[in-house]
Amino acid sequence: MALERTKLMTLVEMPGPPGLPLVGNLHQLDFDSFHRCLESWSDQYGSIYRFKVGPREMVVTSDAETIKRCCRERPDLFRRSQVLANVVAEMRSDGLFTAEGDDWRRQRKLVVTALNASHLKPFFPKLKIIMARLLARWDRAAAAGTPVDLCRDLMRFTVDVTTQLAFGIDGNTVETDGAIIQQQLDKVLPMVFSRMNAPFPYWRYLRLSKDRVLDRALADIKIKVDAMIAETRQRMQADASLYQNPTNFLEAIIAAKESEGLELSDADIFGNVFTLLLAGEDTTANTIAWAINYFIEYPAHFLRARAEVDSILGDARLPEELEQAAKMPFIEAFYNETMRLKPVAPLNGAEPLEDTEILGYQIPKGTLVWFLARKIGMDDANFGQSARFDPERWLRTEAARGCPHDVTAFMPFGSGPRFCPGRNLALLEIRTVLAMFCRNFEVTLADPQRPVEELMAFTMMPKNLLVRLRKRQAGGGLTEAAHRP
Ligand code: HEM
Repeated sequence: MALERTKLMTLVEMPGPPGLPLVGNLHQLDFDSFHRCLESWSDQYGSIYRFKVGPREMVVTSDAETIKRCCRERPDLFRRSQVLANVVAEMRSDGLFTAEGDDWRRQRKLVVTALNASHLKPFFPKLKIIMARLLARWDRAAAAGTPVDLCRDLMRFTVDVTTQLAFGIDGNTVETDGAIIQQQLDKVLPMVFSRMNAPFPYWRYLRLSKDRVLDRALADIKIKVDAMIAETRQRMQADASLYQNPTNFLEAIIAAKESEGLELSDADIFGNVFTLLLAGEDTTANTIAWAINYFIEYPAHFLRARAEVDSILGDARLPEELEQAAKMPFIEAFYNETMRLKPVAPLNGAEPLEDTEILGYQIPKGTLVWFLARKIGMDDANFGQSARFDPERWLRTEAARGCPHDVTAFMPFGSGPRFCPGRNLALLEIRTVLAMFCRNFEVTLADPQRPVEELMAFTMMPKNLLVRLRKRQAGGGLTEAAHRP
């Protein structure tokens, strides 16, 4: 539909923080807490505003209907950020996340099929093995009294899960003490975030030490991912039936490349393996870490979660079957509330492929529009007393609630056709690890004087979340004193 330009306001008329010539609002932005900065400007300037990073004009919206519309209209009318796509392509990690148009359609089908919920039941025995390794790792840390860097340990777990489910390979980084792929993956997303927000692509002309560290990490990842692809190709050559009936994503994408009609290159295979490793790692690990941080903060909720898990697991230390993991309503309420207040993706964004209208403004083609996904879930109009951590809100009946509870305003996995395809896998990982955790351990912050803070590094992670674990005491009650005040 052609825009009726006369009736629409322009970007210049849009409210927003005043900036300086050349730099725009760059000097007011702290990229470590970029999301908080955009959220607090939204309190000041309303549901749509603009700001500038150097010469780049950007728009921010916290209007739920607008966000859903823009997400829904991908990939035909909106795309992911072009700058993000360029940065990712330079790192040779472009796969489904940054693909557009028909490329996206082809790749999306393969990824969705591979991560489909129907694969989770047969996968569960392998998930249990990886979980048992994590349990043993934490048992050792509890016995030794050594502090545990939760995010790092959990990233070992999530990388092992993705590698096993999507590529059929047992990476076993949980039990490895030497160099592991997770240490290199760690370097990638923070640098993607830093480069996509840089006012000028300096790294194309000058390599700073952080760029050289990234180069080394990327080279190392390339070797490891190529080895996984080669191993899979060998397995498929030895058993040709795998071309017709692939058993995991990597086999499926290699088979698709060989088949007629699907234009997939070796770079597509590499990029998508890399993408799944990245997409499945920080997101799930940081969500579990935020939930454990809430366990520390709210001992009564921790005990309630533990009682629920005890009643389902009997004598077992881990969920034994997928069905057990599915029967934990309080754990589910707990992680939903965690993702409402601490979503690892508090921001998302897209660019219109043509000039478009948003909330009465004419938005030129190619303008990056940021979506404040967390802000919608923290609006009292959508969730009553929205600032309060209250898992119970997810369990109350509508009649008992007496306040808004709009689940359509809760979008930790995004919205529309590009909705996260790893959601079912992620939720299974989250619920099983949380069940294992509260069943077996007691937890305190290693240094209660250092507050746990939000750090934005593409995903939002908890900074300073170093904990001490103790094996659960007989009877299993946590003392209030064991927790921070
Ligand atoms: C708690 C864990 C996770 C969270 C919160 C999360 C969140 C998200 C979000 C917000 C998006 C963008 C959606 C949109 O633009 O509408 C996304 C996309 C994506 N996620 Fe996840 N994710 C998680 C786990 C996973 C896992 C485990 C995998 C796979 C192993 C995965 C693979 C992907 C992929 C491939 C995309 C790109 C989809 C596309 O562009 O079509 N994610 N995720």
